[in-house]
Amino acid sequence: MNAIQALRPDEIGLHLTTPLFRATVARIIERYKIQRIIESGTNDGTGSTAIFAQTGLPVDTIELKTKHAEAAKANLAAYPNVRLHHGNSTHRDLTDPVYGGESLPEMILPGLLENAGPGTLIFLDSHWMQGFDEFRMVYYWWRRRGFAPGEIILFMDDATNRKHSQSVHFLQRPQHGKHFVVNMAERWAWTDFSTRSDEED
Ligand SMILES: C[S@@+](CC[C@H](N)C(=O)[O-])C[C@H]1O[C@@H](n2cnc3c(N)ncnc32)[C@H](O)[C@@H]1O
Repeated sequence: MNAIQALRPDEIGLHLTTPLFRATVARIIERYKIQRIIESGTNDGTGSTAIFAQTGLPVDTIELKTKHAEAAKANLAAYPNVRLHHGNSTHRDLTDPVYGGESLPEMILPGLLENAGPGTLIFLDSHWMQGFDEFRMVYYWWRRRGFAPGEIILFMDDATNRKHSQSVHFLQRPQHGKHFVVNMAERWAWTDFSTRSDEED
């Protein structure tokens, strides 16, 4: 049994600092020759962002809530490879006002995608209401740019509940390409946008 199979879902907490998450990120980086990472949902920077930061790759991470962005700025100060964007990954009109930030920059995710190319790992982990909006931004960017399978990796947290279950379902529909999605530990999912063959159904 390898390290990924050895951990149970209940060993994974809110902050993604587990050995399983770290091992998965390392495997993806090596296998797909990842050059940069884009993340939505930094929180205080001590979870997934810290793990991305420790890879030494350029990391762009987006956090809307001022309290979290300020904490993340301090927590990530030791990593010059991390660029923290304090603002909205999507649009303020799509966002629960409880997050505040009406005067902050918005549509940061599509802006970052415009300058991204092969070898990008995109990690979506913001609010459940934004999950499918962010997913569609990535999916249609991927399609418009005509990337080959394996050039872009899309990694989503909460793939079995409301944040990204719809995104996984979308990817697997025949009209959207029947993309192969790896479900991890019943919580995360990632795709390299390769296509399943009919024999795998
Ligand atoms: C589940 S937490 C992220 C956890 C983090 N990835 C970790 O592993 O510790 C989600 C974060 O997304 C932020 N968020 C919610 N909506 C957002 C938006 N539209 N743009 C950017 N960040 C957002 C929240 O403020 C919250 O800090």
